[in-house]
Amino acid sequence: MTDHIVTSIADGILQVRLNRPEKKNALSLNMYTAMADALVGAEANSAVRAIVITGTDGCFTSGNDVADFLQYNPTGTESPAIRFLQTLIAAGKPVIAGVGGLAVGIGVTMLLHCDLVYAADSATFQLPFVHLGLVPEAASSMLLPRVMGHQRAAELLLFGERFDARTAREAGLVNAVCPANELGTLVQQKAAALAAKPPASLRITKALLKREPESIAARMAEEGKHFGRQLGTPEAREAMEAFMQRRKPDFSRFV
Ligand code: COA
Repeated sequence: MTDHIVTSIADGILQVRLNRPEKKNALSLNMYTAMADALVGAEANSAVRAIVITGTDGCFTSGNDVADFLQYNPTGTESPAIRFLQTLIAAGKPVIAGVGGLAVGIGVTMLLHCDLVYAADSATFQLPFVHLGLVPEAASSMLLPRVMGHQRAAELLLFGERFDARTAREAGLVNAVCPANELGTLVQQKAAALAAKPPASLRITKALLKREPESIAARMAEEGKHFGRQLGTPEAREAMEAFMQRRKPDFSRFV
């Protein structure tokens, strides 16, 4: 295994921290494997209600380890990078990314598969695939235009230049930007807020948000199926009884 990925679970939150600062948190094969394993473990662990991915001070990640790119052709499902992405895409629990600085390549494309992204005002982003003679990955050629429109996505992908946190925020890639020294607190607050919510309701809402586009009628029918089922659950009863009794709901006993 690797100590370049540090994980911990506390208060319903799995923290996954990229920790290879001497290489700008470049992602090695072992690091992808450790991240994927942590995400798989989180799905199976009812104590985990939200997942946070962060880097080190001033650095999220400089992307795939370029030395690995030269040695290993990571295209198939046997690739640790692809397995990590597939695991992230399949995550049923909410995932928050805290981008404290540099985010390059997969350091940006993985954000498209997180649910919430918060960034330090000093963070920078770059999609340098064309510079490297490569092409977009992680379905970013589809998801970036979906998030920000074709022209803005084309600018970021075709030129591959670095862009700042304000641009990322305006493009819809980032939920909010804050001073670097407040990022940790902001991310923790958001994760704690999610961890206190009714878990099944969160999971189903996330799954609905991530469904591929379909007709309005089909989506309403799908929502209606879940809505009816949720109405009968103890977690919905707790939410509504708490409202009626003017008290704070407690969802800690639900999984
Ligand atoms: N893969 C492997 N090593 C990397 C790396 C990466 N993606 N990013 C940084 N490093 C290494 C550097 O080789 C250097 O190692 P060394 O000290 O042993 O020489 C160390 O991390 C520090 O990087 P350095 O380039 O000196 O820092 P910087 O602040 O000047 O620049 C970057 C930071 C990220 C802009 C620059 O390192 C870079 O462009 N990296 C490559 C990013 C990339 O192309 N990623 C793949 C995307 S698909």
